[in-house]
This record gives sequence, structure tokens and C-alpha cells, in this order.
Amino acid sequence: MASKNVQITDDLSSVLDRFFFDRNYTQVAVLVDENTEQACLPLVKDLIPEHWLISIVSGESNKNLSTCESIWGALTEGSFDRHSLMINLGGGVIGDMGGFCAATFKRGIDFINIPTTLLSQVDASVGGKLGIDFQGFKNHIGVFKDPELVIIDPVFLKSLPNKELRSGFAEAIKHCLIADRKRWDEISQKNLDTQNWVDIIGHSVAVKEDIVAGDPFEKGQRKLLNFGHTIGHAIESTYLDRGEERLLHGEAIAIGMICESYLSKKKSGLQETELNEIVSYINRIFGLPQLDKEAFEEMVELISQDKKNQGKVINCTLLKTIGEGVVNIPISTGDVIDALFYYNQLSDK
Ligand SMILES: NC(=O)c1ccc[n+]([C@@H]2O[C@H](COP(=O)([O-])OP(=O)(O)OC[C@H]3O[C@@H](n4cnc5c(N)ncnc54)[C@H](O)[C@@H]3O)[C@@H](O)[C@H]2O)c1
Ligand SMILES: [Zn+2]
Repeated sequence: MASKNVQITDDLSSVLDRFFFDRNYTQVAVLVDENTEQACLPLVKDLIPEHWLISIVSGESNKNLSTCESIWGALTEGSFDRHSLMINLGGGVIGDMGGFCAATFKRGIDFINIPTTLLSQVDASVGGKLGIDFQGFKNHIGVFKDPELVIIDPVFLKSLPNKELRSGFAEAIKHCLIADRKRWDEISQKNLDTQNWVDIIGHSVAVKEDIVAGDPFEKGQRKLLNFGHTIGHAIESTYLDRGEERLLHGEAIAIGMICESYLSKKKSGLQETELNEIVSYINRIFGLPQLDKEAFEEMVELISQDKKNQGKVINCTLLKTIGEGVVNIPISTGDVIDALFYYNQLSDK
């Protein structure tokens, strides 16, 4: 189950009471964006001590140094000392950036994360990775540090747009595919609207914690978590500047998981029936939007440059079977192209 620093609860009030019971923070700041200020802050603000509110503009494009400056500026203006606390109330952008600001302000103040998107609850809340984007590179500047506490309450999902919910669900699907056949069988019987979020979040957190615990600095097994991400990231990046067509992270990862399942059949023993099962469920939840084949070359280019490769070989995380991932399987650029064409022809059928 989840460790003591991640609490999944439907009773925010008592978790926060317990947390503050024996702590004496000189000051408390709450970091929100305009959406979480409106939808999430009302559920939290009366449960915490008197605090400063720091509100930033939502969106990945603001996860940068200049927003950090404004956050550090607000803490400085409020005369925050080293015995103060920051509460990050929001999705992965707030968690990553707020955590980074807290971890570096005066060489580090305590912080707690209250993730409010499914993606941040099942993924970003575990693993201690904090950071910001820099000069077009994602998560380029950052540190590893665990929050004092992560409080996950599915109540926040009620106000989350359905597209964001679905995007986060891709990571939960991934956790089943790499680590838990039985759980895959359970979730893949259901649509998005009938899933049990408490169970799903608990499971995802446990799987991720387990993998991260064995490899805190991403030397080996942690790469299991990259399933769907080698090709998925490249798709996400290629579609970043496409306005309406732009894909949310999880939407791109869902396509990446189909492509990498196809490669798993080719390279690491995944059975054809399993591949079809994965394709069919991802289709049911996400559909199979066609990719622009003019962009395939750019995707391959991005994958070849990925910092996770060693030399020219693309190392990919694939599946041996549903419920068991395998890291460092070498694939070629030709394999990537093959997988992208495989994906595109699925919706022609
Ligand atoms: N640290 C990690 O290990 C890790 C892992 C995965 C992703 N991430 C990072 O997480 C970020 C993406 O996270 P995200 O998808 O949560 O994005 P996000 O923080 O941008 O949130 C998505 C949108 O939902 C809104 N929102 C948040 N909670 C809401 C709620 N309860 N009701 C209504 N609206 C709400 C936000 O304002 C935003 O517009 C990326 O920057 C990614 O790099 C980090
Ligand atoms: Zn991801």
C-alpha cells in the first residue's frame, strides 16, 4: 500500500488536522492557479491555518523560471523564513513548480502537495521529481525531493474536465499494463464513468512507489514507467503547436502505448491476442485519432535525440505480457515508423 507520506482519503479535514497538530510553521502559503483557486480552494481553505494565497496563471507554458520568480517574490514579500510551509493545490504543473520553488527557497522549506487532477494523483504525486521547463526543454531544471505529505482526495476530480480525467487515466492503464494483469482485467471491463477512482489511485500510487523505491534516481527499473512514453512523447511534442489538434499528455501516451504494444509483439513476446485486447480498450476510451504521416519523420527525429538513449540505439520499455514490462529493449528508427503506420491503419479497418 501507499507509504505514510502519501495519504489517499475522503476526509481531508482530519488528515490536515493531524498534519498540523504537532507542527509549528511560522507562515503558510497556498499555491493555486485560477482553476484550482475557484474549484479546489473552497474545499481546503477553512481546514488550514491562516495563509498567504499565491495564484498563478494555469498551463504548462507558465511552468517556467519567470513564474518561479514571482512565487519566490511572493514568499520574500511575505517574509517567509525557513520554518514556513508551502501547500501546492493543483495539478502536475502546480506540484512540480511549487515543489521546486519550496525546495530551493532559502535552501528548502517544507511543502505538501494536494494533487487535484487524476494525472497528478496517479503519477506526479509520487517519485519526488520537481522542476520546470526551460528554453523549450521539458522539466529541464529541477531537483528530487519528497514533500512532507501528499494528500490525495478524489473529491477534486468532480470539477475536472472529462478530457483531463481521461488523460490521467492513461497513466493508470500504463501501471496495470507494466505491473498487474489482474487489475488490467478489472479496469478494462469498464468505461471511464464507472471506474472506482479510490481503488485506481491507490493501485497506481502503490505500483509507482514500488518501482521508484527500488530505483530512486532512475538508473534502471524506473524505466518501466516509460512504457508508452518513448513514442508517446514524440507524438505529444510534434502536436504541441497544432492548436485544436493538440493532444493532452495522456492522449499522446495512449497512442504511444498502442505503438509500443505493437513493438512488444515484435520484440518481447507479447501475444497477438494481448495486443488486440490493448488496442480494443484504448480505442474504447480514447478512440483512434489518425496521426499526420507527414509528421512521422519529425517524431523519429525527436526519439533519436532523446536523452534517455545510449548512443544511436533507442532503448524502449516494452511488455513481455500484459502485467509485465521489460526495460532497455533496443529498437530502430524503422521499428518506430512501422509502429506508427500500424497505429494509423487501425482506424481504417
Ligand atoms: N513529477 C512527476 O513525476 C510528474 C509526472 C507526470 C507529470 N508531471 C507534470 O505534470 C504536469 C501535467 O499535470 P496535469 O495534467 O495535472 O496539468 P495541469 O496542472 O496543467 O492541470 C490541467 C488543467 O486542469 C486544471 N485543474 C486542475 N485541477 C482541477 C480541478 N480539480 N478542477 C478543475 N480544473 C482543474 C488546471 O488549472 C489546468 O488547467 C506536466 O507539467 C508534467 O511534466 C510530473
Ligand atoms: Zn506520463
